[in-house]
This record gives sequence, structure tokens and C-alpha cells, in this order.
Amino acid sequence: MLLEGKTIIVTGGNSGIGEAIVIAAAAAGANVVVDYVAHPDATSDLLAKITAEGGHAIGVDADVSKLDDLQTMIDLAVSTFGSLDVIVNNAGVETRTSVLDTTEEQYEHVMDINLKSAFFGTQFAAKQFIKQGTPGVIINISSVHEDWPMPGNTAYCVSKGGTRMLARTAGVELGQHGIRVVNVAPGAVSTPINTATMNDPAQLHRLDAAIPLGRMAQPAEIADTVVFLASGKSGYMTASTVFVDGGIMQGSVGL
Ligand code: BGC
Repeated sequence: MLLEGKTIIVTGGNSGIGEAIVIAAAAAGANVVVDYVAHPDATSDLLAKITAEGGHAIGVDADVSKLDDLQTMIDLAVSTFGSLDVIVNNAGVETRTSVLDTTEEQYEHVMDINLKSAFFGTQFAAKQFIKQGTPGVIINISSVHEDWPMPGNTAYCVSKGGTRMLARTAGVELGQHGIRVVNVAPGAVSTPINTATMNDPAQLHRLDAAIPLGRMAQPAEIADTVVFLASGKSGYMTASTVFVDGGIMQGSVGL
């Protein structure tokens, strides 16, 4: 199995893309630490499902925007499973507000959850890898919007643009330690973050029509890429982004 015996943390791991990554990593043989801040019941259900299938997973209630919580999460992974091999900085939020009316509170919330958490998750995981003397992998779940504007979602795009340079710069800095940093940039995925779009048939039709593959992704389609990046099969990939977007960024009406 691709991740046999590896220990992997997934932030925001009890719903959406995070949940799919947890399931795929456990199925690939990893010990999984499922970070969450809300819906403890969803976490217990997920852990029970993994255990029933012979996998290994624990939950941790940690707010990734708080540095103490991030460190506690990493320490728990190490004390439970012996070491840390991979962190997936997945937790993310969006406000869908324009640059004209985004409040300071909304801006800070988006930046704290999406970017500050990924920055310090990267720092703390890298320190742990260096302490262990092992190569490790840092994967940030970014978005096509790390590079592609989404009008009406400006703070989100700014935060994802930050993760773009986080992967590149930290990837360059940490290469000497054998640590890889890679972003996964999904397009539109069938998860709770897109509930409003999925509940509006006209909006959903417009979105599907803009995607060359003609449909949103299933979360498992993002998770499969994450498992590959977490494994030795991607051992020469670092400081860059893998787009998993059904071609949406290259969409063209052919005029
Ligand atoms: C955003 C979604 C959006 C999708 C495609 C994602 O990063 O969270 O709101 O539908 O990108 O544009």
C-alpha cells in the first residue's frame, strides 16, 4: 500500500475534501490524525468507519488558526504513532464577498484559517521532520483561485495566492532537508463549501458549462492526488502546484 505505516495529519478532516483525504489515506495504509473544530459526531462516525475497515485513525479537536493548537495536534500525532510523515493543510473557508464590502473580521477569519494555519502548519511540521531526521511532505489544499480570480470572493483568492508562494518559497527553503512542499489546487468540488451553487440549478448549469469535463469533481478525485503526493511515487515533486480542476482554468469559448 502506498502509505503503509506513514503518519499523516489532515486539518479540517471531518468533512468535504478533508474527509475524502482521510478515507483515502487510511485505505492506503496510513495512520491518520483527523483534525476538526466542529461536528464531533461526524468525526466519531468517520473514525469508527476507518477502524471497522482495519485502518488506524484518531481525532483531535484543534483550531488551526491558533499556534498552540497546531503544536498540540503535531505532538499528539507523534506521541500516538511515533513520528510524523505528512501534513495536509486542508482547513479552509470563504466568505464570497466583494473587495468593496469585506469586513476586517471576515478578512482576518479567511486569512487565519486558510493561510496562517498553512504557514505555521508548514513551519511546525518541518521542525518535527528535521528533529526526526526524516524527509517529510507538506501538502496545502489550495485552489484554482491561487492563480485565477474569482470576483466576489476576494479575501479567499488573496489567501490562496498566499499559499501559492508558501509552497514555492518554503519548498525551496526546505529542499536541503529533503522536505517536499506541494499544493493541490482543486477546481469546483462537490462539498459543503459549494452548497449554495449546487442548490441553484441555473448557477450549477453555468458552472458545469464552464468546466471542460462538464461536471464538478467528487472529493475522492482530489484525495487520490493527495495520496500520490504523500507517497514516494512523487518523490521529485516540490515547490509547485498540481491542478485538479477538470480543465476549468483553461476553459475557452473559442472566439
Ligand atoms: C471555491 C469554490 C469555487 C471553486 C471553483 C473553490 O476554490 O471554494 O467556491 O466554486 O473554487 O471556482
